[in-house]
This record gives sequence, structure tokens and C-alpha cells, in this order.
Amino acid sequence: MASPTIGDRVPEAFSHLLSPIQIGPKLVRNRLLVTGHAPRLAKDNKPSDDYIAYQRARARGGAGLQITGAAGVHPTGVLAGAAGLRNVDDGIIPGYRALADAIHTEGGLILGQLAHSGATVGNSDAGRPLWAPSPIGSELTREIPHEMTVSEIQAVIDAYYAAAQRVRDGGLDGAEVLAAFGFLVVAFLSPLTNKRLDAYGGSAKNRRRFVLEVLAAARAGLGPDRILGLRIPGDEDTPDGLSAKDMIGEAKAFAATGHIDYLNVIYGTNMKRMGRMKHWPPTPAPHGLFVEYAAAIKQGVDIPVFTVGRITDPRMADAIIRDGKADMVGMTRAHIADPDIGRKIVEGHVETIRPCVGANVCITLAGAAIRCFGNPDAGREAHVTQEVPAPHAKTIVVVGGGPAGLEAARTAAARGHQVTVYEQGPKLGGQLRLWADTPDRGEFHKLLNWYEAALMRAQVRVVLNHTFDVGTLDGRAVDEVILATGSKAAAPQRVEGHKASPIVFSTPRDVLETPPSNAGPDNSGHVLLFDEGGDQTGLAAVMKLVESGWTASIATTEFVIGEHIDPVVRTPLYQRLLKADVRLLPNERLVRVEDRDAVLRNMYSDQETMIGSVDLILDWRGNAVNDALLTPLQDAGITVYTAGDCVAPRKVHIAIAEGAMAGRAV
Ligand SMILES: Cc1cc2nc3c(=O)[nH]c(=O)nc-3n(C[C@H](O)[C@H](O)[C@H](O)COP(=O)(O)O)c2cc1C
Ligand code: SF4
Repeated sequence: MASPTIGDRVPEAFSHLLSPIQIGPKLVRNRLLVTGHAPRLAKDNKPSDDYIAYQRARARGGAGLQITGAAGVHPTGVLAGAAGLRNVDDGIIPGYRALADAIHTEGGLILGQLAHSGATVGNSDAGRPLWAPSPIGSELTREIPHEMTVSEIQAVIDAYYAAAQRVRDGGLDGAEVLAAFGFLVVAFLSPLTNKRLDAYGGSAKNRRRFVLEVLAAARAGLGPDRILGLRIPGDEDTPDGLSAKDMIGEAKAFAATGHIDYLNVIYGTNMKRMGRMKHWPPTPAPHGLFVEYAAAIKQGVDIPVFTVGRITDPRMADAIIRDGKADMVGMTRAHIADPDIGRKIVEGHVETIRPCVGANVCITLAGAAIRCFGNPDAGREAHVTQEVPAPHAKTIVVVGGGPAGLEAARTAAARGHQVTVYEQGPKLGGQLRLWADTPDRGEFHKLLNWYEAALMRAQVRVVLNHTFDVGTLDGRAVDEVILATGSKAAAPQRVEGHKASPIVFSTPRDVLETPPSNAGPDNSGHVLLFDEGGDQTGLAAVMKLVESGWTASIATTEFVIGEHIDPVVRTPLYQRLLKADVRLLPNERLVRVEDRDAVLRNMYSDQETMIGSVDLILDWRGNAVNDALLTPLQDAGITVYTAGDCVAPRKVHIAIAEGAMAGRAV
């Protein structure tokens, strides 16, 4: 469906969300917005086939307006790596053209986001200084930037003009100037980062000067027939930063220039460590958490105002428009999880939208191509054929109802196969359910429910509480088997002294599955996690125990507890653990136990520390494959495909992706 809004049947419940809107010189087909985000699919800093296929899928799925990820306009402010866009010379124009053509073919519109990262992103060109209004470093880079001279300021303004011209020459529908997240343009505006004493600093009027000059340059470069937007924080949410009140005033000043056609309101600043976590928070952050900032700004301006931030339910999006809080609703991660939101709304199948559950896999694979927790195709659009009917319907057995098995069964059934899933436990879900049952991850149940509903719709037969073996197939005509039997926790190590100690040794995964046997009379005790996994599993188990009254310590030989978790996800975990007085002991190895004491030895000083009165030690060194059925099935002459942890223990999103591959292979 090329245009799922204009002239089409519009379900009443979504009439506000699906109504067209005039943004400056262009009519947008609906209010579904995909805000600027970098899928890390560019090649040599230009839109590649993969990049275009990714964006095109969202246009085909019905998004009204899309915005590219930040494209650096000047060599001093480009985002690191070749997988992000750079609009620093005419080399980007052919890629923009191909991108624009693809989006227009699908009935959508696309803007190029123009950015200078200022002090917020370490420069990939070794030794090149960062540029900023004042020599104030971001907590994310700890790099002191160079204070720009007036001629350098002019050079960047000129770069915005040239970049906007390339957007126009590339046939995009316009540009958005990124003046948020502490990037250069907002760094001039903010008293947090601008301490200048010249015409570009001091008073609000002087701090605003650079923004206005950039907007004038971008408008001149674009011409009158393209959209120009500005992305701003509704509040920088940090002492000395721009407040919500400041931003209401600034928004009026920007709108009054006549240069811009909309304001796109976000939140926070990457100058601060906590700021990066706040503007794209993972679950369990509330949905629609920045709407009120957009609504406040909207009251003072007469151009459209956009909102974004954990809006995943189209009903919420419709209500935001209906209530006049914003004019377009960004559902960015929601579109990563399911590019077909608009189409599914129009077709009356809202319940089939694959939910974004706030896992933040999409933002945490630094540098690598985008991936999504629940959508196996995100970032692979150019390479996957959608659920094309299989040439011959086959009888397929999926062994294991975890994430890989669920996706394999769903995909195979969607292709017309007759599918049966055997799960040895009482419920479907495997590790996905395990995660959904941990503190702060309850939202993952939405994905689980989505899978259960999808299997039911596809008439997949589900057999629970069945320990599958080759004998299960006796007398049944089965064409192929997909083995998705997952993994189990690697056995805990038994340190010196364990035999004489009353301390129970277990693993976080076992505790997530079944509460520990030796909890005290009030269901409590002291748990020591020795975490050599560095992922979320150990921390989730500790949080679960702490919630039920346990006290806890966590030790690891790594430099940081949770070393392999992205800081955006690690931050709320730390907030929870530290508020519960959990003791964090990095750089320590568990060497022995003496009765109820656990002895740790420092990796670097060899000094020993005693943790007393320990009841439970959770030893975590990852999972071990559970592939015992592979050889017997193969020996029985059955064609077997494998997917997920039974191949090698990895993450849920990889299991789901492999499930999709297996479902497409049968
Ligand atoms: C993978 C990824 C990359 C992003 N890159 C950018 C970017 O280049 N420029 C930008 O303004 N925002 C960027 N964002 C932030 C989004 O525009 C949006 O503000 C954020 O995802 C919150 O909205 P949501 O909850 O609807 O996803 C990015 C978000 C994601 C998930
Ligand atoms: S990885 Fe998680 S937060 Fe990101 S789009 Fe997918 S479900 Fe949403």
C-alpha cells in the first residue's frame, strides 16, 4: 500500500494520527514521524543500499515523515566511523538522490538531519581538536574542546549553508538542524556550555545568535520550497543548562525568524553522563515522557511541534494529536521494531504490530549495524526476503519454545508450513520469559504475548510439558526439524573450601528460574554474585533477590560491574542496585570460602577482602549449549536446522534472528 492515509479508509480510532498535515511547503500524509536516527548502515559515510532499504521499509510501512540520522556538516564535528552520514562535500548527493527516490516511491517524505557534534562525540580523526563555544568537555568524552574563533564560527555557518544546498540538490524534502543533545548549535545557546564574552556569548540574545545564523544559512541553502526544521531540547535537565522555561522563550524566538517550518522537541544533554540515558531511556521508563515539553512549547508558537520519546502504542500517539499536545508523533524505536505501523493501522490489524519493548539493543551496539531485540529484520532489510510462501507446504517440528523457536515457528507458519512446537516447560518463552519476569523487564511480556498470538493466528500447534526425543516422531510424517533447544547455565565453579562450607553455590540463571532453596525464615539472606559474565543476567538475579529481602554483594575481575552492558542500560540497573545498598567490588577474584565467609583477592594488589555471613554464591560465567538432540536426530536421517543458543549461547536478539533464518530456510 503506497499511501495508507490519504484517500484511504481511516479507522476511526486513529483518525487524528492518520490525518495529513501541512509542514511548511509540503503536505505530509499522516502524523507518524520517524525522528533522526543513525542505523549505522552508511557506507563510506554515504547512504548505501542497506541504508536506503532500511529507510524505505519504514516509508513502505506507512510513516509520514522520516529524518536521516545526524550527518556532520564540517570535518570538526562529524560523528565517528564510516557507517554514519557525512554531508561535508558533494559526494553525498547521489546517495541522497537514491534515498529520496526510494522514499518518494513509497509515498513518504524524508529530511536530512544536519549536525555538528561539538564537544559531545570524540573525534575519529586522531589528534583533531573538538570545536565548541567554550573549552568545556562532555562527561561522555572527557575531552576539552577548542574554543572557536569568530572565523571558525563563520566557517561552520558556511558549512551549514553548503550542506543544506546538498540536501536540496539530492532531492530530499528538506533538512533538520540538530540543536539538541549538547551538539554544537545548542552548545552555543546553553549557558552550561557557552561562557564566551564576545557577541556569541553572555546574554541570551548573544547565545542565540549562532543558532539564528545557522538557521538563516540553512534556509538560504535549501530555498523556500523545502522543509526546514529545528530539533531542540524541551529542557536540558541539568543545573546551569537550558530550563523548560528558557526553551519556551527560545522556541518563540526561533519560530519568529520565519526560517523554520517546525520544532522537534526532545530532552536532556549529552554533556552529562546521565543525560544520554535520559533521552532514549530503556524500559521501564514511562511512555510518552517528553510530551508535556512539546505541549508547553506548542502553546507559544504557530508552527507545528513534534514530540518523541517511548511512544510505542498508536493509541497513545493518536491521543497526543487529538489533545493538541503535538502535531506529529515520533515513534522511532517503535518503527525499528516494526516498520509497518501505519499500514497495519490502516488495515485494522493494530494487534499485529510487533512491539518495541524498550530493550535498547538498537542503540547499544556501538559502531555495528542496527539490530533490534524483537525484530530480526531491522538493519537487514536489503538482505531478507519477507515471508514468501514456501514452494511446497511441509510438516515442520520446532523443538524448543524459546525466542529462537518462537520466531522460527512463526516464520515457517507464515510461509505456509504446518508447524508444531514442542516445549519441555509449562510455558512458551524460554529465556525471553526469564527476562520478562525479572525486575524492570516486565514490558518484555508484550513481545511474548505478541508471539503467542502470532502462533495462534498461524495455527501453529504447541505442545507444552513435553520432553522431546527422537521417539516423539515415531510414526509421524515430518519433513524437517528446527532445533532450538537453547542453553543452560554453565556449572558454578567450586572454589577452595566449598565442601566444608554451608554456603550454597548456584548460578544467576538458576535463581531466575527457581528461588534459592536456602532462603532464611523471612525469605532472605546474603548473596554474593561472582560475575564473570559482565552482562545483565547476574545483575537481574541479584535485583530479584534484593526485591524479596536479600542483601547482596557483587564481585568481578573486570574493571566495572556490568562491564559489557551499554551505559544507557547499565545506568538504571546501577540506580536500582545502589539504592538497595548492594556492594560493588570490581577487580576482585573469588578465591575461597571459609565457613560462611567468602574471600576475594584483588587482581592488582593481591590484597584479600572477606565478605562475611554469606548464604548463597551465584557464580556466573555464561551459558552452555543444550544440543543433545542434534546427533540423534541427524542419525535418524532427519534434516535438522539449528537456531539460537543451542548453536552457541548468545543474546536473545541473535536467537530471534537465527530463528527467522531457520523459518525461512525450511
Ligand atoms: C539507533 C538510534 C540512533 C539515533 N541517532 C540519532 C541521530 O543521529 N540524531 C538524532 O537527533 N537522534 C538520534 N536518535 C534519537 C531518536 O531520534 C529519538 O529521539 C529517540 O530514539 C527517542 O525516541 P523513541 O523513544 O521514539 O525511539 C537515535 C535513536 C536511535 C534508537
Ligand atoms: S531494540 Fe528494543 S528499544 Fe530498540 S527498537 Fe527493538 S525493542 Fe525497541
